[in-house]
Amino acid sequence: MYRTSIEQDYPDVVAALSLWWDNPEAQTRRSQRVALVPRLFFQHFTDTTLIVRHEDRLVAFLIGFLSQSRPDEAYIHFVGVEPRHQGRGIGADLYERFFAVIRENRRRKVLAITTGSQAFHRRLGFTVSDSIGNYDGQGGVHVTFSREL
Ligand SMILES: CC(C)(COP(=O)(O)OP(=O)(O)OC[C@H]1O[C@@H](n2cnc3c(N)ncnc32)[C@H](O)[C@@H]1OP(=O)(O)O)[C@@H](O)C(=O)NCCC(=O)NCCS
Repeated sequence: MYRTSIEQDYPDVVAALSLWWDNPEAQTRRSQRVALVPRLFFQHFTDTTLIVRHEDRLVAFLIGFLSQSRPDEAYIHFVGVEPRHQGRGIGADLYERFFAVIRENRRRKVLAITTGSQAFHRRLGFTVSDSIGNYDGQGGVHVTFSREL
């Protein structure tokens, strides 16, 4: 079942941040991932944070928002699909649903910044707009992706 998020989703998402990330491309550690996903997204960005559940188990989530400062833009902050469900189109479906939400809000550009999942973003029509070293003061290289809608 797909729906927008509620605050009660937050504990399951925190647990997923520990359990779902075994991708060697992902440079961030568990504690960093949790720090990147504060509860406030599930309080103040619920309309643009999307949840997939099956039989009350979290299957996937997408945390996004409409830029407050850039009226034409939206931003995808974090996405995850439960490993046994990966590769079945759920991630792509969540992105399409997010695109629909932001079109409704007359946004024409969507951004995402990642250390991993670059192939996924390219496949979904994003192009690299920048590559930034030490983006968050933690070293590594972050890649900025964007897509016009
Ligand atoms: C990255 C992630 C969100 C993709 O979700 P998904 O449901 O597995 O992806 P989909 O099945 O919708 O794939 C959509 C397309 O992207 C491609 N793709 C997805 N992951 C890929 C990968 N790691 N490498 C290459 N292509 C990939 C798929 O092959 C598919 O292309 P196709 O339409 O030609 O078959 C998911 O694998 C995940 O949660 N990974 C671990 C966490 C993570 O890295 N999150 C992102 C950074 S925060």
